[in-house]
Amino acid sequence: MQRSIFPTSAPADFLRDGFVLLRNVSGAEEVCGLFLEEVRTAWPFGQGVALDNVARVPHKSCQDAVETGHLSLHFEMGLPVIPVEETTRVHALLCLHIPKNETASEVKTRLLPIDGLLAGRAVEEALTNYVKKYGAGWNGHNSGRILCAGQLLDAAAGKSELSYMREHRIAEWFNQDENGNVQDGRVNERAFFRKHGIVLSEREKSFVLQQGDLLIIDNLRVAHGREGRRPAEELVQLLYGAREVSRVQIDGLRRQIVDNLTKRA
Ligand SMILES: [Fe+2]
Repeated sequence: MQRSIFPTSAPADFLRDGFVLLRNVSGAEEVCGLFLEEVRTAWPFGQGVALDNVARVPHKSCQDAVETGHLSLHFEMGLPVIPVEETTRVHALLCLHIPKNETASEVKTRLLPIDGLLAGRAVEEALTNYVKKYGAGWNGHNSGRILCAGQLLDAAAGKSELSYMREHRIAEWFNQDENGNVQDGRVNERAFFRKHGIVLSEREKSFVLQQGDLLIIDNLRVAHGREGRRPAEELVQLLYGAREVSRVQIDGLRRQIVDNLTKRA
């Protein structure tokens, strides 16, 4: 017999807002799997979405991610904007969980829905051109993706102020300038968004996750970050993706992302 393991309103809340917080969760993987069945329609390739990776984050070996008190808003493994391979992997669903029997810190998990961030503007061409030049990558490889949420604003403005971040680690964004000088990442990220007409404090949602909390995020519609130093391996991160997303589907996803970015309230 099927147990009811999340509120019946949760999938509709997720489809409306791009995220939902479930409380008092046992067996996060099972809950996420059942939840996924309710929300696959959120993505054009939703039928192919499956569990891809379970990890403890921040990982002990990622020294900078453990030590930083400010992790800038980002999309896990990136927001695909232009296709660069015949098929690619797209991570659609991100679940962050603190098991019931473990201690929880006071760190704030931050979320930024992209809906309406660039309301009423024509941005598809600017976004495409930006990613062609500055898509996240390494050693000359361009993934065709944007990792850093701030780069959406950089792209829409036709600027390249954040292009230097394309090869930087997430923990460095806004915490260092182009030349590696240390800065206040929180102040810097807020100032950058403010310059582009976005008051982050009005749009961000933040959660101090408790024991048993499970935060389910549409990774293609909501960026995430944090404020505060998270103890190594505090979170269980479950990442769900589709493996063989075609060029045509990436083009469709880009149009969906642009529709979300530009929709009016
Ligand atoms: Fe992340």
